[in-house]
Amino acid sequence: MGFLFQFPFAVFHVFLLLPCSSTAVLDAVTPTQPLIDSDGQTLVSKDGTFELGFFTPGPSSNGNRYLGIWYRNIPVRRVVWVANRDTPATDSGSSLSIDTGNRSLVIVSSNKSATLWSSNATASSNHLVTSLVAELLNTGNLVLRDQNDTSNSEEFLWQSFDYPCDTLLPGMKLGWDSKSGLNRGLTSWKSPDDPSTGDFRWGIQVQNNPEEFMWKGSERFHRSGPWNGLGRSGAPELRDNPVFSYKFVWNEDEVYYQYELKNKSLISIVVMNQTSYLRQRLAWNEASQSWGLYASVPRDRCDNYATCGAYATCMVSESPICECMKGFKSKSPEMWEMAEWSQGCVREKPLPECPPRQKNVEGFVRYNGLKLPDATHSWVNKTMSLGECRNKCLQNCSCTAYTSTDIRGAGSGCSIWHGDLIDMKMFSTGGQEIYIRMPASELERGNKVTRSRVGAIVGAIVGGLGLLSLGYFIYFRVKQQGDSNTRGKGDLELPLFELHKIVDATANFSDSNKLGEGGFGPVYKGVMADGQEVAVKRLSSDSGQGLKEFKTEVILISKLQHRNLVKLLGCCIQGDEKMLVYEYMPHRSLDSFIFDKGRSRLLDWGKRFDIICGIARGLLYLHQDSRLRIIHRDLKASNVLLDRELKPKISDFGLARIFGGENGEGNTKRVVGTYGYMAPEYAADGLFSVKSDVFSFGILVLEIISGKKSRGFYHRDESLNLIGYAWRMWNEGKALELMDSALDNQDSSSTENLPQAIRCIHTGLLCVQHYAEDRPSMATVVVMLGGGDGRALPPPKEPGFFKDKEPFNMMVDSSSSKVESSSTNELSFTLPQGR
Ligand SMILES: *[C@@H]1O[C@H](CO)[C@@H](O)[C@H](O)[C@H]1NC(C)=O
Ligand SMILES: *[C@@H]1O[C@H](CO)[C@@H](O)[C@H](O)[C@H]1NC(C)=O
Ligand SMILES: *[C@@H]1O[C@H](CO)[C@@H](O)[C@H](O)[C@H]1NC(C)=O
Ligand SMILES: *[C@@H]1O[C@H](CO)[C@@H](O)[C@H](O)[C@H]1NC(C)=O
Ligand SMILES: *[C@@H]1O[C@H](CO)[C@@H](O)[C@H](O)[C@H]1NC(C)=O
Ligand SMILES: *[C@@H]1O[C@H](CO)[C@@H](O)[C@H](O)[C@H]1NC(C)=O
Ligand SMILES: *[C@@H]1O[C@H](CO)[C@@H](O)[C@H](O)[C@H]1NC(C)=O
Ligand SMILES: *[C@@H]1O[C@H](CO)[C@@H](O)[C@H](O)[C@H]1NC(C)=O
Repeated sequence: MGFLFQFPFAVFHVFLLLPCSSTAVLDAVTPTQPLIDSDGQTLVSKDGTFELGFFTPGPSSNGNRYLGIWYRNIPVRRVVWVANRDTPATDSGSSLSIDTGNRSLVIVSSNKSATLWSSNATASSNHLVTSLVAELLNTGNLVLRDQNDTSNSEEFLWQSFDYPCDTLLPGMKLGWDSKSGLNRGLTSWKSPDDPSTGDFRWGIQVQNNPEEFMWKGSERFHRSGPWNGLGRSGAPELRDNPVFSYKFVWNEDEVYYQYELKNKSLISIVVMNQTSYLRQRLAWNEASQSWGLYASVPRDRCDNYATCGAYATCMVSESPICECMKGFKSKSPEMWEMAEWSQGCVREKPLPECPPRQKNVEGFVRYNGLKLPDATHSWVNKTMSLGECRNKCLQNCSCTAYTSTDIRGAGSGCSIWHGDLIDMKMFSTGGQEIYIRMPASELERGNKVTRSRVGAIVGAIVGGLGLLSLGYFIYFRVKQQGDSNTRGKGDLELPLFELHKIVDATANFSDSNKLGEGGFGPVYKGVMADGQEVAVKRLSSDSGQGLKEFKTEVILISKLQHRNLVKLLGCCIQGDEKMLVYEYMPHRSLDSFIFDKGRSRLLDWGKRFDIICGIARGLLYLHQDSRLRIIHRDLKASNVLLDRELKPKISDFGLARIFGGENGEGNTKRVVGTYGYMAPEYAADGLFSVKSDVFSFGILVLEIISGKKSRGFYHRDESLNLIGYAWRMWNEGKALELMDSALDNQDSSSTENLPQAIRCIHTGLLCVQHYAEDRPSMATVVVMLGGGDGRALPPPKEPGFFKDKEPFNMMVDSSSSKVESSSTNELSFTLPQGR
């Protein structure tokens, strides 16, 4: 059949015509002539901006091929749309063609027997489709349309803009269409080399009061706030801007967000990032020939969903960032005090019985300057007045708040909330008002939310001035031992040290005062004017955090108090300098004992066992009891300090938080930690969890018992590392040979200690299991060390990082970039050798 003409490749004018007179004839056209195959052929939009073709995303994509669209003239290729993201072609012979039978685009495998991907068959239109055309428009939209249908050029049989991937191009709609049932949202790629459907989504939830959400899996992590006629309630700063214009359409048929670039020669896109919890607006910078980050959302912690829980407002410039609204109090004051706000606030006085028996027993309090609460369960009438809205709310017992839907002019419409009011942010300028239902007795209390904040420290720091005149410390509330259970109004208990005092105390950070150098910066010994000895950690300036975030983190960490943690005495923030001031430990770190021939004799078995148990308890506190769930991420002998009684104290906890790592299980770009202590999943994939700390703890236990370094230890005849050696000795029933020879001739060899030592080795091996799920939690470890409640411990399996070469190769091979960002081998508080 000669009616298919050859497709003119690499010519700007791109479409395939199937000049037939009826669908019946079209049905007969199989197999279709390919539009493009994956052999480097591409389709280009008329103006040359966009290009459609097969691509291979990256080195680790196994050569998988995907059909995608990208900017043709940008050297740093950024694929903005992928057709077969979840069904890659595995060979080079696949092709794109039009399936004329069901009027769709299809990607078929090289042997033509498998359809890898198909655009949805288009609904049969009421007129006959005479000639199908696939075209890549200048907007980057791949469309399938009827060549002869000139009635409405915007109506396509199918368009790629209806099926976004991770990128929102100018002119694309984000949102839903009740006629077609489409809900267009972005979904991140799985990884930079893998376009398959990832975890992060951004879209508009179908609800009465439309607003955008971002999800990780099924969990929300950001909400835009309802639209208010001008923009999103949660982004009052989004106004007319020089780069793009935007619109929100909200009518019976459609709800969507869309933007256009004001200057069409600029290139700017919105991308759902696949690694961080971010939606980013990128812009192509012609001068630097790179993609620059123009904006990203969430912008701060208060943008994270429900940071402060119900009936609380979040304001990043304040400390703490969360505050209960007037008339509400924290649900769990202890948790609130610990900066764990997610439980939120509850009413100080309950609402009266509903429906009320008397009149005027309740009313509404107006709050202003807010991002409106989660509108998932709200009700809307766009024509009601505010007065009608109030009555509507009063008539329904489950109504908790109301406000105008549209804030333009005097405001119009009615939005009503049912249930708890969650996820409110407070703005210093902009923001909306809301009327919250209150018992009559609360109505007199201020009409406006004024954040009566504990100002002293924050003010001083925000202002950056006045600090010097405030004396030696500024205590907001001096919290010393003994009163840690009292709960005051203020939340700040962290003394601030003045820079010049620190400079004096450390002899201007002189080398002779230097205690060690860590991944986060050097540590100096200091003697304050009053004779108090301190250790000053001078943080390297690349924490990537703002001052307020830094402060928040430091305050959090300062609240962690446990006898097996080094006490944070205060901090010093001045200019670019950020320092943490700790209590000074005269015996310095554990490694200066256990790895030193002479000093190791000072640690008999009893002391070593106490040290192991102390570290375990400190770590348990960090993981579980502190409620902050701190993952240390760099536990090792040089980060365990010994006090006068040789009791262990963990140092450097929480620094990963300060340096922008997430808390809880997660994945991180910045692998902090030390070779020889890192769990396999952390070293290789940056996956950290409490279980990666357990791994490091296991190493530490083996080191304390054996007096040998995890790294740098080689068994004579094999390349076994300490773990491998311990595993071998265990299997050969010679576990006790692992014990430090410094313990010979000591009481440790007395028979009553042997079971305890074996139990320690056993626990250590369980902690260094290859798979995180095989390792015990610290709570279990503490029980195991204490005798296991009389139960036998499970037998260990072969541990992770068995041979010394393994972790190293693994890190270099699979994540060389991470190795560079890893901290150096010897970190904080490490004594220079030989001192
Ligand atoms: C398209 O038509 C083919 C037969 O030509 C059929 O096997 C396939 O299921 C159809 N696809 C859709 C999406 O309808
Ligand atoms: C055609 O290729 C697909 C995918 O590459 C494969 O699954 C199928 O078995 C092949 N069929 C034949 C007949 O070779
Ligand atoms: C086809 O439509 C369904 C439902 O509307 C959608 O889930 C699916 O992703 C569509 N498939 C393609 C290839 O566009
Ligand atoms: C459709 O368009 C083709 C060429 O563009 C033309 O030859 C044909 O007559 C048209 N058919 C109808 C039904 O308009
Ligand atoms: C649009 O951007 C281009 C490139 O930056 C610039 O040369 C041009 O003057 C801009 N046009 C307008 C109307 O601003
Ligand atoms: C995701 O964000 C990170 C950090 O900002 C950036 O390096 C990376 O390129 C982003 N990914 C995409 C697809 O834009
Ligand atoms: C919305 O309010 C107006 C004015 O009060 C009323 O006429 C209309 O019926 C209401 N619509 C709905 C859906 O309740
Ligand atoms: C109150 O509002 C809820 C949620 O919209 C609704 O289910 C309920 O029927 C309403 N009750 C009354 C009495 O109108």
